[in-house]
Amino acid sequence: MSQEKEPIGVIGVGWVGLVTAACFAEVGHRVVARDILPEKVEALSRGEITIHEPGLAELLARNAERLTFTTDMGELLEAASLLFVCVDTPPTVSGDADLSRVRSVVAELSAGGGHTLVMKSTVPAGTGHSIRRDLPGVPYVSCPEFLKEGSAVEDFMHPDRVVIGADAGDEASGDAVARLYEPLGGEIVRTDVASAEMIKLASNAFLATKISFVNEIANVCEEVGADVAEVARGMGLDQRIGPAFLRPGIGYGGSCFPKDVSALKMLAGNSGYHFQLLNAVIEVNELQKRRVVGKLQKHLGSLLGKRVALLGLAFKPHTDDMREASSLVLAARLEGEGAEVAAYDPVAGDIARGLLGGVEFRDSALEALDGADAAILVTEWPEFAELDWAAAAERMARPLLIDGRNFLDPSLLKGAGFEYEGIGRVVEGSVPAGTAD
Ligand SMILES: NC(=O)c1ccc[n+]([C@@H]2O[C@H](COP(=O)([O-])OP(=O)(O)OC[C@H]3O[C@@H](n4cnc5c(N)ncnc54)[C@H](O)[C@@H]3O)[C@@H](O)[C@H]2O)c1
Repeated sequence: MSQEKEPIGVIGVGWVGLVTAACFAEVGHRVVARDILPEKVEALSRGEITIHEPGLAELLARNAERLTFTTDMGELLEAASLLFVCVDTPPTVSGDADLSRVRSVVAELSAGGGHTLVMKSTVPAGTGHSIRRDLPGVPYVSCPEFLKEGSAVEDFMHPDRVVIGADAGDEASGDAVARLYEPLGGEIVRTDVASAEMIKLASNAFLATKISFVNEIANVCEEVGADVAEVARGMGLDQRIGPAFLRPGIGYGGSCFPKDVSALKMLAGNSGYHFQLLNAVIEVNELQKRRVVGKLQKHLGSLLGKRVALLGLAFKPHTDDMREASSLVLAARLEGEGAEVAAYDPVAGDIARGLLGGVEFRDSALEALDGADAAILVTEWPEFAELDWAAAAERMARPLLIDGRNFLDPSLLKGAGFEYEGIGRVVEGSVPAGTAD
């Protein structure tokens, strides 16, 4: 391992902050990480990991000597001059980004302290300018984060690109941040603060748009008897389009896309521009989560008293993050139709229990499927591909599966005795919706 390098401060130890702290420690930096939640700081100080993220526990354990967790801002300010702000920026009731946590960090800093603020939290374009106005003399760098939960460590250590925004006068601080990222590889994009802020919002909004687009294509495929997997494959080979994010499902969720799309729409509106496309992206996503209920009703009629099993609850596999997970809307809709809902998730069960009051939680997929009239695959956890589906069919009252992620092999499921329906997928023997009697 390389010798000790410049110490780094991390403010906010959630998904982004903890991964940032662990990865910079892995590269050889001493890191002091501060959070306002004492229980989180105590757990991390005891070596207990607070989130489920592949590879993170090992990284934290391996670099424990270089990592300090604290609630004390003074300790952090004393230890490091580069301060990475990783606090949450959730949506407000108005749909704008809530910057109160960012503001409270700024309020704890003072000019002339020799610190540089490096903003990793996702903030609306213009935020950096206003912080610079409020904190003259404190260099400010925008360094938005692009990691994906479920592969956050890998993404941080091998970034596609690193965006570093610094305005006139703060170039040296931008250089200092760029030096930190050099060992990780990936193209470094040097730009101004407002453009860096926009790159982050525009990237997430574009990815969400791609998802809503392919979801609509899938819905049309169902009407006309086309197979969206074939359509996406044929589209994705066009280099102008590319294959990524062309997989339909039951809508995007998570802590970033919904709030960032909304924040960009509001930012545009507040600035006098009506961002029409994003309205459709948001609406398509909301409706997509609900279409699954219609699919169930097509097979089962009324859902009153029917038992439905949800396989997977987290918004994506390899994480226990339940923020804006499609399962939350789905469970509420099913309960609204009078269904009994049973659920299983390999890691998100404990967190989900607190959010899904009426749902029965089970310790395995097979147990969740016991006596069910239908199952919905909500999260594409690899273990669901390995499940003994013939045994599952035996345990269910009616072996009907709606594959909300087009994750399973339809012929395997049919061979196991299932009625199978995916999203925009042609399954042998099925009739296109538009041509059905
Ligand atoms: N989660 C992701 O996948 C991801 C990816 C890219 C960017 N982002 C952005 O990064 C930011 C952080 O996201 P997250 O998912 O890590 O959030 P998170 O909610 O998991 O973590 C935020 C942490 O900040 C702490 N905090 C709040 N106020 C604080 C303060 N004044 N001082 C110290 N700590 C404070 C909270 O207690 C919490 O532990 C957000 O702006 C988000 O949009 C997130």
